[in-house]
Amino acid sequence: MKFQLATEAQSSKTGILVLPIFENDPSTGSTSSLQVDSGQKSEIVNDYLKENPKFGKKYETELLYSTSEKILLIGVGKREKFNFEICQNFAGLAVKSLLNKTTEMILFLPDVSFKKVEAAVLGIEIASFNTVEKYKSEKQEIKLENIQIVVEKTQNDYMDELKKAQIVAESINLARTLGDMPSNEMTPAYFLKEARKIALQNKLKLTVINEKKAQKLGMGAFVGVAKGSDEPSYILSLEYLGNIKSKEKLALVGKGLTFDSGGISIKPSSNMHEMKYDMSGAAIVLGVVQAVAKLGLKTNVVGVMAVTENMPSGKALKPGDIVKTYSGKTVEVLNTDAEGRLVLFDALTFAQKDLKSTKIIDLATLTGAMVISLGDFMSGIFGNNPEFILKLIKTGREVGEKFWEMPLDEEYEEMLKSDIADLGNIGRGGSIPGAAGSITAAKFLEQAIEVNKTWIHLDIAGTAWDLSSKAYRSKGATGVGIKTLIELISET
Ligand code: BES
Ligand code: ZN
Ligand code: ZN
Repeated sequence: MKFQLATEAQSSKTGILVLPIFENDPSTGSTSSLQVDSGQKSEIVNDYLKENPKFGKKYETELLYSTSEKILLIGVGKREKFNFEICQNFAGLAVKSLLNKTTEMILFLPDVSFKKVEAAVLGIEIASFNTVEKYKSEKQEIKLENIQIVVEKTQNDYMDELKKAQIVAESINLARTLGDMPSNEMTPAYFLKEARKIALQNKLKLTVINEKKAQKLGMGAFVGVAKGSDEPSYILSLEYLGNIKSKEKLALVGKGLTFDSGGISIKPSSNMHEMKYDMSGAAIVLGVVQAVAKLGLKTNVVGVMAVTENMPSGKALKPGDIVKTYSGKTVEVLNTDAEGRLVLFDALTFAQKDLKSTKIIDLATLTGAMVISLGDFMSGIFGNNPEFILKLIKTGREVGEKFWEMPLDEEYEEMLKSDIADLGNIGRGGSIPGAAGSITAAKFLEQAIEVNKTWIHLDIAGTAWDLSSKAYRSKGATGVGIKTLIELISET
């Protein structure tokens, strides 16, 4: 998409004007406040709003025609509730409505205090990028090419917001593309190829640990899962050093199961196809590292991605098997479907022991229990540093991503006891099977964290993909967390 920032709409024959309309707020009806040139255009808007005073509810639309121009009104709800997320969705909805109707869109943004240009550009880039249509023979025609964003006259450097949003959107769309790809294409080897491309393009150091090397290093938990699959598997690290004077290094660790059948503890078949999304954590990590490099942030970040499949086979882990992790701790595999925590355990140790990270954030579509707890709108956040957790939650709110803190009290550790090994890979002993499933999974990961290391775990099982239709975004992988993490890394 080509963007142009303007303080007044440049009149154009083909362009469709898009106006945000607040609910119960007569001032937005007066389009002069949005610097639309006077005359018929503002009159038809005013007339329409006079006749329809209730217009303005979130995401309702109305296309108005005058002799020379078309104006799309989009309701954005109450003025005091208008935020980054609604602004992003408003712009996305405009694009989705006009994608096949016009070559040019002129989008008006109201005068607000948050980064509205960043929000709008993200909304536009995400809505115009449809990853699930890729496999259909008949595709929607796309006409839209040019976008004018009209803002009030200020000293604000909206150009910076525009450039940043384009980089962030590119990463989100990368994670969406990889997530939506079927597992017969999106294999661990394909993921490695993508990581290699990004490493080359951005001069990043890529380290590849294949299964043989992992075996030699003693990464028994990762190898245990990987050996059930015929595809070669990898633990990858992608390092960006933007501040060599600092000893601080943030590791982002992602679960990269390109398919999770459950293994021998096989999943029911009804929604098993959705388990192609079980590599979302790793795709998000790849996206964030790419964006951090493109933005040239003055900080050190290393992405660690554990990429494999969980398959039932003659070589697969069996319930009751015992594996020795890279940390030295032994694990009794009570359920082979709790594979994410196994591969992450070794990846977390690798991030600390070999890559010398000082802070760790892991992202994983880890548990169905997380979806039971928080549904599809919030990700669970766990960790050992309350300030860091609060900071991430607050940063998320600013960019329209929601995280809810979950407990990690010591009582839960009891549930991971094994009769025969240091740990069992599932929580037991609750009053119902699977009790506190997302917490016991997080508690398991915590056992891989060294003393004094700041750590956050994000369980994105409910938020990493969305198969419900949204007016402002096509279905599929969401790239959740990318906005928040880039913002968080920029601020520290
Ligand atoms: N990848 C799944 C978790 C998942 C399920 C994510 C549904 C999104 C939607 C994970 O590997 C898994 O299967 N977890 C098990 C753990 C259980 C066996 C303790 C689960 O949640 O059922
Ligand atoms: Zn599983
Ligand atoms: Zn899984």
